[in-house]
Amino acid sequence: MSLKKHILDLRKRREKVQLGGGEKAIEKQMAMGKMTARSRILALLDNESFTEYDLFVEHEARDFGMDKKQLHGDGVIIGTGTIYGAPVCIFAQDFTVAGGSLGLMHARKITKIMDHALKMRVPLIGINDSGGARIQEGVNSLAGYGEIFYRNTIASGVIPQISVILGPCAGGAVYSPALTDFVFVVDQISKMFITGPSVIKTVLGEEISMEELGGARVHAEITGNAHFFAGSEMECFEQIKKLITFIPWNNTQKARAFPPKEPKFKGNIEDIIPADPKQPYDVRDVIKAIVDDSDFFEIQEFFAPNIVIGFGRMNGQTTGFVANQPLVLAGVLDCDSSDKAARFIRYCNAFNIPIITLEDMPGYLPGVDQEHAGVIRHGAKVLYAYSEATVPKITVILRKAYGGGYIAMNSRHLGADFMFAWPMAEIAVMGPEGAANIIFKKEIEEAEDPDAMREEKVQEYIDRFANPYVAAAKGYIDSVIEPSETRHLLLHAIEVSSNKNDQRPYKKHGIPPF
Ligand code: HXC
Repeated sequence: MSLKKHILDLRKRREKVQLGGGEKAIEKQMAMGKMTARSRILALLDNESFTEYDLFVEHEARDFGMDKKQLHGDGVIIGTGTIYGAPVCIFAQDFTVAGGSLGLMHARKITKIMDHALKMRVPLIGINDSGGARIQEGVNSLAGYGEIFYRNTIASGVIPQISVILGPCAGGAVYSPALTDFVFVVDQISKMFITGPSVIKTVLGEEISMEELGGARVHAEITGNAHFFAGSEMECFEQIKKLITFIPWNNTQKARAFPPKEPKFKGNIEDIIPADPKQPYDVRDVIKAIVDDSDFFEIQEFFAPNIVIGFGRMNGQTTGFVANQPLVLAGVLDCDSSDKAARFIRYCNAFNIPIITLEDMPGYLPGVDQEHAGVIRHGAKVLYAYSEATVPKITVILRKAYGGGYIAMNSRHLGADFMFAWPMAEIAVMGPEGAANIIFKKEIEEAEDPDAMREEKVQEYIDRFANPYVAAAKGYIDSVIEPSETRHLLLHAIEVSSNKNDQRPYKKHGIPPF
């Protein structure tokens, strides 16, 4: 055969395999409002940057009629490419081929690209659209998932791992994403569950739709499994691209620096917080008044909204923000918000991203529900994560810093490098009313006018403790600052900490309160 014929033959072979499950299956996929695996990769990566590997891999299964089935690419596409010039490794499961189910060769393709990402120290992106372990391949499918979970774990904290859920993902297809750093979901398209509605009906006799069981909103709002929620696949890809600009390629590098920009915020930062300490406000307004270009990229926006986490830039450098949200539950720490904050703090620490903490909260949420849900164990994660983190850690106490909350939200005592407080900050063991009721119980009960006495004692407590100066007098707060000085001082603190070297004793690993 002439070279020309060889080339034509190659092109034909490529075209055939690139059709995945065939035109009918593609039509079905599109009728569900879903893009194909290939078009997803092409939409996400820089133009003409995608290079595919293992296109001609085929399965070797023989049972249950598999010997007669040709599954193009064995239902998954793998390759490398770039996003805004940054290299990434990527795989996308193809639901048009046996429901994107994972058999032995499908798993081998994924583990090959995972190994590549780890060796090359570049981010891994997995687009999941799969019915989970391929039933016909039995234990080989389970083995495949095990090999993926193992690699997810080994790569954790070394390279960024991003999962995109773009279809009904079941079984192993959701456990691998759960082991990765960021999970993206799309409204109406993403579904995540361990066992699907048909299994639930068989085992429990209960009818439930896929959407109710594990739709995108369920995971963005209730379970916290998803970190980003989008209205469409294209919006989701824009979110992923934006995330890539905020994170480094691996744990030995820093995120790319951008030209510094002043915040767009035009108001007066002093006007954001109401004069009445009981009135709420949106802490995201404070963040936007501080970060470059007022560009704050929020993570897990709809889950545990009593704490706000996300990335912004300070002087062009990626910075992680953790902020109590007084708009929701007065910004308390509870089980979910503790999980959310602790995981993000650990992410920032693993990938060399300084952390700014903005504090305004009355403490941990009291109540039987929280106690029984394990607020001790979950709350301890925040203490652990802040104490463990060696990246620059800076706190600004905006208003309330009561009790365990004062300690937990990156206090000096957990290793904060710089502690600032606004002049209206209140730092105490608990709120003035609760404190006065306990320590002046007798005086209040025995007074002729208990209400007047309570008021007097509350004021006495406020005058003595509900300010930042007692903590400043002990050196627990480095500086009481005017709100308008905040950005300038934070930029300075980050600059001063850029060479921070905080050595810890050797250990294999700690035992965090998982
Ligand atoms: C083999 C599968 C498959 C699977 C789907 N298909 N899941 N083939 N193994 N796990 C095939 C179907 O046979 C069908 O093939 C095609 O994919 C499309 O599936 P449909 O059912 O027609 O699609 P839909 O109605 O959209 O439902 C999708 C689904 C459902 C919700 C994912 O297929 C489903 O419930 N599948 C099983 C999910 C599950 O329980 N997986 C867990 C596996 S255990 P044809 O040829 O008709 O097009 C697991 C272990 C890991 O993953 C453990 C981790 C710790």
